[in-house]
Amino acid sequence: MALDRPTPNDLRAFWMPFTANRQFKQAPRMLVAADGMFYTTSDGRQVLDGTAGLWCCNAGHKRPKITEAIQKQVEELDYAPAFQMGHPKAFELANRLVDMAPEGIDHAFFTNSGSESVETALKIALAYHRAKGDASRTRLIGRERGYHGVNFGGISVGGIVNNRRHFGAMLVGVDHMPHTHIPQNQWSKGQPEHGANIADELERIVALHGADTIAAVIVEPVAGSTGVLIPPKGYLQRLREITRKHGILLIFDEVITGFGRLGSPFAAQHFDVMPDMITCAKGLTNGVIPMGAVLTTAEIHDAFMTGPENLIELFHGYTYSGSPIASAAGLATLETYREEALFERTAEMAPYWEDAVHSLKGRRHVIDIRNMGLIGAVELEPIAGAPTQRAFNAFLKAYEKGVLIRTTGDIIAMSPPLIIEKAHIDQLIGTLADVLDNLD
Ligand SMILES: Cc1ncc(COP(=O)(O)O)c(C=O)c1O
Repeated sequence: MALDRPTPNDLRAFWMPFTANRQFKQAPRMLVAADGMFYTTSDGRQVLDGTAGLWCCNAGHKRPKITEAIQKQVEELDYAPAFQMGHPKAFELANRLVDMAPEGIDHAFFTNSGSESVETALKIALAYHRAKGDASRTRLIGRERGYHGVNFGGISVGGIVNNRRHFGAMLVGVDHMPHTHIPQNQWSKGQPEHGANIADELERIVALHGADTIAAVIVEPVAGSTGVLIPPKGYLQRLREITRKHGILLIFDEVITGFGRLGSPFAAQHFDVMPDMITCAKGLTNGVIPMGAVLTTAEIHDAFMTGPENLIELFHGYTYSGSPIASAAGLATLETYREEALFERTAEMAPYWEDAVHSLKGRRHVIDIRNMGLIGAVELEPIAGAPTQRAFNAFLKAYEKGVLIRTTGDIIAMSPPLIIEKAHIDQLIGTLADVLDNLD
């Protein structure tokens, strides 16, 4: 059924993000509606959402509670200044977030995206040490293959070559730990066995620069955007031990792992490792309205709450930090997760998902498969001389066959809404199997 929705006849003006613009505009893929697990395309087809939008629509699409909350909020209070003024819902949402965060996380600073959350956390880390009289701690440590958004702090600590190489010198004083993706862990189900010792490379970096120059280490507990890299058993625990030993803050970038993706509210709880800060976004509002947050310990927050009470403690914030509509959407989203026990459901569904994703072992071109919670990755042998092409062809074919997946390099990544049913998993993986069988 074709929907009565106008599709634009001129695609020139919109410079699309992270997209091959010219290729897209020759054969556009337009989504015009969404409900539950499915998108509707402009030519009236139903496409199963295997990616929760961009890892953000964790409760699925068109959720009534969220829609109604936004509608009601826009009629009641459309916007309130974020600086030196407040409105009740931002405070309420901060409390709900802190309630669901790991024990010891007590404060939330609102942003509008994952990238902004990362910048905010890095700035808080630097300013925290300064506030404590430790102003020499200015270095930031990221990791190879890390993705922390697209702003200058994020690409500096990030480890994706294409996101960095065109944009100049970046932040100074940044170093990178090695990534954890090693061949011994091929075909691992859940957390891989080998590689906890890779965390010890941080000791080398500390020895090189001196602990008293390092402010923070930032990692994704599970790296998503560089192809789903699952932390080896014991790795995150070891990172925590080393950072704690040297007085270095540990930031978990939970922009994709937050809000149930692994079956717990945050990955910190799933792995039982307590960071000093958590950055989040995406699933915070079910992807409906841009919003992010940085969650911090009281120790960090309280370090700023000194000096004269009439002075601003942190010179940072956004026009839309905790905006009324985003806050209303966030509250309704968290309520939806809770009412439908979606995080618990994810944990229950994860073994079925794991078996389904790993059933693709042996299909053409498949050289590795990885999974955790409701995340799955299928890595393909690249076409010689044309890296990324094979996985992108798979993406196009899957879309034609009614399934939305995502690719990064030659890796197919899947992260469906947490409301996914077994029949949807069968459809997603069955379609992908068919696509792989017929892929050049
Ligand atoms: C771990 C991580 N950090 C940061 C970001 C950036 O988020 P945004 O695109 O909302 O700026 C992403 C986006 O995928 C992410 O996966």
